[in-house]
Amino acid sequence: MKLERNLGFDLQRATEAAALRSARWMGRGDKNEADGAAVDAMRFALNATDMDGIVVIGEGEKDEAPMLYIGEQIGNGNEPRVDIAVDPVEGTTLLAQGMPGAIAVVAAAERGSLFNPPGIVYMDKIAVGESAKGSIDINASVEDNIRSVAKALKKRVEDVTVIVLDRPRHHDVIARIREMGARIKLILHGDVAASLMPSMLEAPADILMGIGGAPESVISACAMKCTGGEIQCKLWPRNDRERDLARQNGLNLDKVYTTNDLVQGDNIFWAATGITTGDFLKGVQFFGWGATTHSLVMRSASGTVRYIESRHRWDKLMRISDLPFAEH
Ligand code: FBP
Repeated sequence: MKLERNLGFDLQRATEAAALRSARWMGRGDKNEADGAAVDAMRFALNATDMDGIVVIGEGEKDEAPMLYIGEQIGNGNEPRVDIAVDPVEGTTLLAQGMPGAIAVVAAAERGSLFNPPGIVYMDKIAVGESAKGSIDINASVEDNIRSVAKALKKRVEDVTVIVLDRPRHHDVIARIREMGARIKLILHGDVAASLMPSMLEAPADILMGIGGAPESVISACAMKCTGGEIQCKLWPRNDRERDLARQNGLNLDKVYTTNDLVQGDNIFWAATGITTGDFLKGVQFFGWGATTHSLVMRSASGTVRYIESRHRWDKLMRISDLPFAEH
């Protein structure tokens, strides 16, 4: 029997590189420098990878993002042909402010399988782990969803934890969750990590609810394909311009985008590395000799979920790589 290559390990090297480079910017108040460092490192590592990739979810359009822009070819051109969804720093503010939960993340799926909502910044989302799969409906009320998830998890409503981005646009959702007596975990940023929390063995939350970035929805959907969880999303245009843009692109604002609409197929590789310590990944820890990283690597076809702790030695890395890992 042939053991197929797991592209996830190559992706993990890229997220490790992005985390190692950008972690130096922790707490220094400069989102752009931190993101730029991660983008450089991620691109360098991905370009050394055996794959013929196209960035479908990236840093933005070519003009505003010099690297890892949507449509950029990435990899060394060898097989496999893949779509790439990348966020070199998911939670740039968290990193710039030295707060918990910033990660570097990248996913790969078969060519043509990733959805890209053109020009739409936000989506309304609901996500759960495998045990509550099939119990959510983004068109149902907050109350019905919580009751249904509680039933699926055999929990009391009071013991269900809903994770929500702390935003004024969520005041109503938060009030309704509180009214029901369910628990809330408010987060400042990072709804990719938040969407994964219900899928963890010791889950810090049971449901993700609310409006967050549209590109992040696709990265979350890739993760759900690997963990067995579920995400449902709807486009959430902010104004008439975005509503028109959606219609011009033939997008239906009432459509419920399921996990499978956001990423098709069952050949998805997903990797993330912690930059600052969060609920499920430790951040980069620096030592005199080097640094340690903590990563999550997943593959949908096998359903394998791996946590990997790595040691990186500056002296050796500098000998084998052009990446300026240690600038001291
Ligand atoms: P960045 O890393 O691009 O700053 O995104 C962080 C994030 O919190 C995402 O996780 C989330 O989907 C989105 O921003 C929410 O957007 P906003 O901060 O505009 O509400």
